[in-house]
Amino acid sequence: MATAASRSPTTVREFALRVVTSPRLEDKLRPPPPDLPDTNRGPALRLERPARTRDLRIVHVHEARVPKIQGMLDPKQRVRIVHAFCHHELQAAELCAWALLAFPDAPDAFRRGLVRVLVDEQIHTRLYMQRLEAMGARLGDYPVSAYFWNKIGGVASPAHFVAALSLTFENANLDHAPTYAAWARRAGDEPLALLLDRIYADEIHHVRFGWRWLARFKDPHESMWEAWTRRLPPPLHPGRARGREFRPEGRLAVGMDPEFVERLAEAPVTLGRRRGERGAPCD
Ligand SMILES: [Fe+2]
Ligand SMILES: [Fe+2]
Repeated sequence: MATAASRSPTTVREFALRVVTSPRLEDKLRPPPPDLPDTNRGPALRLERPARTRDLRIVHVHEARVPKIQGMLDPKQRVRIVHAFCHHELQAAELCAWALLAFPDAPDAFRRGLVRVLVDEQIHTRLYMQRLEAMGARLGDYPVSAYFWNKIGGVASPAHFVAALSLTFENANLDHAPTYAAWARRAGDEPLALLLDRIYADEIHHVRFGWRWLARFKDPHESMWEAWTRRLPPPLHPGRARGREFRPEGRLAVGMDPEFVERLAEAPVTLGRRRGERGAPCD
């Protein structure tokens, strides 16, 4: 008999449910059928954690340390960094699915856009899995923490969701992806550099999705900076939306207004960092 996970989903809700509640990677990474109807959205469902297989079970950040960026030059450390990036992508896919389940009343166009981002994140996860395979590893070989789930899972509204995922973590990737691509090139790993280039290009679309929707969701009296920072779940702060090397060109390509980009350029990277918060490989 076909199980809920193996049966092809007939609605966006069923698809999202499969991504979060099936522990199997094949289910989490299978794209939705084209033109999936977004009917029968059901009541809001706020799942606390994704289902995972044993090798991808979530551990405390202290048990899932990731090498610093200089480790890119050492293949043994680089594979652990790529593993962490791959798991970031998996969490992004799961969190988009989480938001589809948590916000059934969000506008149709917002939900359609979220499905498109989710599908991109599934593709990114698979592409990193291919890189891992080429390095003799696989997703699940190293411990993983729920860094993004801890910060984003549970947010109050679609506006809070885009503030945290699109405008903070994906926004930061507009610095991290090119920086890591440069290190991959220094290490002579051109396939990894090309993958990071591609992710950077996709991330511009994802951040733009968040920017445009926050502009629609926000109070008309709020500036974009106020709208964003007021919806950041603690301990997130503007400095988490950038790397040490700030690259304004990505933000301008998104369509952010120059004043917002300037304020972001001035945001201290480490402000508010708390003990034990490390765990993101981009620090
Ligand atoms: Fe991604
Ligand atoms: Fe993304």
